[in-house]
Amino acid sequence: MDPAADSAYELLSQYSHSFMVSQVLFAACELGLFDLLAEAGEPLSSAAVATGLGTSPHGTELLLDTCASLELLTVETGAGRALYRNSGLASSFLTRTSPTSQLHMLRYLSNTTYPCWAHLAAAVREGRPQYSRAFGVPSQDLFAAIYRSEAEQLCFMRGLQEVWAVHGRAVMTAFDLSSFPVICDLGGDFFKDPLPAADLYVLARVLHDWTDDRCSHLLARIHHTCKPGGGILVVESVLREDGRGPLTTQLYSLNMLVQTEGRERTPAEYCRLLSSAGFQDFRMKKTGCTYDAMLARK
Ligand SMILES: C[S@@+](CC[C@H](N)C(=O)[O-])C[C@H]1O[C@@H](n2cnc3c(N)ncnc32)[C@H](O)[C@@H]1O
Repeated sequence: MDPAADSAYELLSQYSHSFMVSQVLFAACELGLFDLLAEAGEPLSSAAVATGLGTSPHGTELLLDTCASLELLTVETGAGRALYRNSGLASSFLTRTSPTSQLHMLRYLSNTTYPCWAHLAAAVREGRPQYSRAFGVPSQDLFAAIYRSEAEQLCFMRGLQEVWAVHGRAVMTAFDLSSFPVICDLGGDFFKDPLPAADLYVLARVLHDWTDDRCSHLLARIHHTCKPGGGILVVESVLREDGRGPLTTQLYSLNMLVQTEGRERTPAEYCRLLSSAGFQDFRMKKTGCTYDAMLARK
């Protein structure tokens, strides 16, 4: 093969095997590998890890060496044996006791998002979420499908919070919010319940769940309750103006297809939704992280 075909094939191979990388990460978390290594306080051999986790020696060795190649573990070799410890990435994000742990989000991605993505082609064909194919529950009542059990709801909510332990500061400091003494972070059934009085309403990762019509309905409710001079802060992963990136946001948009009624949007689309609801002075700040902040006023 010529070099161009070689590199094209390499890219294809990387894309087609990426799911295996996710599964290594999910399995290692599910088995408690990173917690075992954190709690051991010293690097462990493959045999000690297998004993600690109650896993097969052969499977454990393969998993550990793959985790080391993925930079989830570091490995020290000498005297004919290998000893494993958590990498910085694993210590920060993959252990139960770390303040920036992402373990609930990873469990949610593994147990809920991944089975829905197994039906991506069907989602594209039909243009709707895939809970019925993935879990045998009807998708018509999205709330009931998303929050299928208390355990599921708790895992999802904890996972959502874990992301803010990493990105929250960048998002909440993007604008000077000191002129808003009372800030209300909207959640729950904001389509029906009366909205509390506040100077600023935060809608974080909410509009991306909904169609334009539902977003307009919600924004009109907020505008109605908002005092003149009050504001709305919308926090979302925002597409480039031409909609062609960033890739992470495009993947999130496909995720909205398989799991919700919504999609990720461009700055102009958010501006249009907010303006149609009566909000003015739309401003957007890119934070450099996955989520950006948009502020508008009544
Ligand atoms: C993706 S969560 C975002 C939570 C939080 N703002 C964050 O960024 O972590 C979506 C929010 O929409 C609310 N919600 C209201 N109606 C809903 C519905 N029918 N289906 C799903 N979520 C709904 C949930 O209670 C939840 O607070």
